[in-house]
Amino acid sequence: MSLYPVGQFPAYRPRRLRQSPALRQLVRETQLQVAHLVLPLFVRSGCKLRRPIAAMPGVFQLSPDELLREAARAHELGVPAVLLFGIPDRKDAKASGAYAANGIVQQAVRLLKKELPQLLVITDVCLCEYMEHGHCGIVRRDKSGARILNDPTLKLLARAAASHVQAGADLVAPSDMMDGRVRAIREELDRLGFQETPIMSYAAKFASAYYGPFREAAESAPKFGDRRSYQMDPANAAEALREVALDIQEGADIVMVKPALAYLDILYRVKAEFGYPTAAYAVSAEYSMVKAAGAQGWIDERALTLESLLAMRRAGADILITYAATDVAQWLREK
Ligand code: PBG
Ligand code: ZN
Repeated sequence: MSLYPVGQFPAYRPRRLRQSPALRQLVRETQLQVAHLVLPLFVRSGCKLRRPIAAMPGVFQLSPDELLREAARAHELGVPAVLLFGIPDRKDAKASGAYAANGIVQQAVRLLKKELPQLLVITDVCLCEYMEHGHCGIVRRDKSGARILNDPTLKLLARAAASHVQAGADLVAPSDMMDGRVRAIREELDRLGFQETPIMSYAAKFASAYYGPFREAAESAPKFGDRRSYQMDPANAAEALREVALDIQEGADIVMVKPALAYLDILYRVKAEFGYPTAAYAVSAEYSMVKAAGAQGWIDERALTLESLLAMRRAGADILITYAATDVAQWLREK
């Protein structure tokens, strides 16, 4: 059977199915619902602190009390999950803050799980925010330059993930792009008795200019070099499928494509090829661009945001990670 009317049918008129909102809803192929949304949040120590991110209007570095307020507001609107990033007080060469039992993310997780037990708490697992040099792995510098030490980094990532889960995190999301980190984290979680805790891996994460505003938000810009030795080349789609296959082999339960809108082809292929639960991360610059143009009155921020998220769903995303999650939840309610 063909997907398309091929001539043997009496005049097929697509317009017939567009006559009313109810009819359009009946035949709609893709739904955008609050249940799909994940809200990323940035936490740092302090009290009553809401430090704005210049390039991301409406996004703040929050102290734990304010984080709780922000998470509660989203949760009341039906947003099922948050994704936490931490900004530590001090950075060093071994990212101690990333796996400190009383690190900022670990504190935040305990608070959120105590006050909002129904809210899913996902933690970003990476070292860049905690490293003085801002890279996602351990760096060795010598005469020939600087190198990322992949395998020694795995232990630290596994420790960080374990400390998040011990604090109560429901899911961990490694974003570092070191080879073998999903297996290292899976083995460590299993060893500690957390066989039931899922891993959402940033499986196809591209070295992207779309992360610019995030590095201000998370204070994680590399002090030298860039991330192209561990993040993916935007030119490569087949390689993205191999990265995803590897993460699935290593034990990833959910795979992510990041950024989202400029990588819908990747998203589509990942979902078609593996059929795994798939997340799209609408990253910082995707948010900033819409905010900037919206503030000028050049675009309709709300319509454009909803259309973009719907496109990610259509391409195959089950999960939508977006800084606009709370606004979107509100808009979907008003609709
Ligand atoms: C850190 C990390 C980054 C993002 C998520 N985790 C930045 C980077 O890799 O440089 C980007 C998110 C965004 O831009 O919204 N590993
Ligand atoms: Zn990182």
